[in-house]
Amino acid sequence: MKSNKFIATGVLLTAAALVLSGCQSGGRGAAPAETSTDAGTTETTEAPAAGGFEKGSVIGVALPDKTSENWVRAGAIFEEGLTEAGYKPSVQYASEGDAVASQQQQIEALITEGAKVIIVGAADGSQLGAPLEKAKAAGATVIAYDRLILNTDAVDYYVAFDNFKVGELQGQALLEGLEASGKPSPWNIELFSGSPDDNNAGVFFNGAMSVLQPKIDDGTLVVPSGQVDVAQTAIQDWTAENAQKRAETLLTGFYTDKDLNGVLSPNDNLARAIITAAEGAGKGIPVVTGQDSEEESLKWIIDGKQYQTINKSTPVLIDQVITMVDELQAGSEATVNDTEQYDNGVKVVPAYLIAPISVTQANIETAYADDPKLQEVIDGYKK
Ligand code: BGC
Repeated sequence: MKSNKFIATGVLLTAAALVLSGCQSGGRGAAPAETSTDAGTTETTEAPAAGGFEKGSVIGVALPDKTSENWVRAGAIFEEGLTEAGYKPSVQYASEGDAVASQQQQIEALITEGAKVIIVGAADGSQLGAPLEKAKAAGATVIAYDRLILNTDAVDYYVAFDNFKVGELQGQALLEGLEASGKPSPWNIELFSGSPDDNNAGVFFNGAMSVLQPKIDDGTLVVPSGQVDVAQTAIQDWTAENAQKRAETLLTGFYTDKDLNGVLSPNDNLARAIITAAEGAGKGIPVVTGQDSEEESLKWIIDGKQYQTINKSTPVLIDQVITMVDELQAGSEATVNDTEQYDNGVKVVPAYLIAPISVTQANIETAYADDPKLQEVIDGYKK
C-alpha cells in the first residue's frame, strides 16, 4: 500500500502537471475518495478559476485550543511549510477558556492582515459563519482543516483524514483487541465520544458504532451502563479531566461486581485518562482505542497499556493543505477527492480526504514511515 506521504506527493505532482499543461479534468470533480487515475494519483477538479494571488501573500491559519498533540504540532508545521513554500504565514491559536470568541476575533484580524487563504481548525464549527462571511467578502478562500465548518456557505474546501473511517478502525480494533485478550465473550465495554461542539466527534462515533452496534445487538458486546448514544458518551472540550471523571463514575456505578473488558475512546488523550481511572480502581487495564499517535500513547502501546491509536499524520495533512494553497495561488481550483460526504447544513463542502492508519503493537514499527519525528520516538523507546 502507498504511504500517505506518497499520495500527497503524487497529488502535488499531478496538480503541477495539470497546471503546466493547462489541462482540465472536466466533469470528474465528483470522483469519490481513493479514485485513481492511470498514474495512480487522485483526480483534480474543474477549470482553473480566474485570479490567483501573489506568492509572498499572507496565509492565515486559525487553530483551536491545544486539546491534542496534533494541534500543538500543527502550528509549527504550518509556519515552516508555508514559509518554505514562499508565503507569509500568520498562525493563531484560540485561547483556552475563551476559544470561540478568540477564534472569531483572530479570523477578523487575519482578514485585516489581507490573508488570501484562511485555514481554520474550528474551535466550534457552528460559530464561525459571521467572520467567514467577511473573509469571503474580502476575497479570501476559506479551507476547513480537520474539522468541518457548519451552517455557512462561507467555506470553500475541507481537508481532513477520513473521520468516519477513523471511527470504523477504532471499532474494529476494539473487537480485535477483545478477541486477542483470550477472555470469552460476551465482553463488557463502555463508549466515549468527543466534545459535542466538534463536528468530528459524532462522525468518529458513528463510524465506530457502524462496527460495534451489530455486536451489541447480537450480544457479543454488553454495555453495562446502558449509555450508548453520542450525547450520553460525550466528553465536553475533549479534556482528560472530564474523561477520567466519567470513567471513574462508570467504574464505581456499574463495575463493582464485574470486569470492564474494553473501552471505545475517541482519542489518545482521553484513552490515557480512561486507563488511569481503570488502574486507580484496581480493575486491570481494558482494551482501549485511541487516535492521534500522541508520543505518550505510542509508548503505552509499546508497553501494552493502550491497545490502539490512529496515525493521522499532521505533516501529511498540512502538506496537502499547502498543495491546495499553491493551486489557489496559481489561479486554479484546489484538488478534491470527495464531493458528496461533507454536507455542512448549507452546502456539500468539496473535500480532500486522506486515509487514516490503525496502529497497534503489531505494526507500530512500520506505521510511521510518513512521520520521522514519531518514528524517532518509537525507535528511541523500543525495548
Ligand atoms: C481531531 C482529533 C483530536 C480532537 C481533540 C478532533 O477534531 O480530529 O484528532 O483528537 O479533535 O483535539
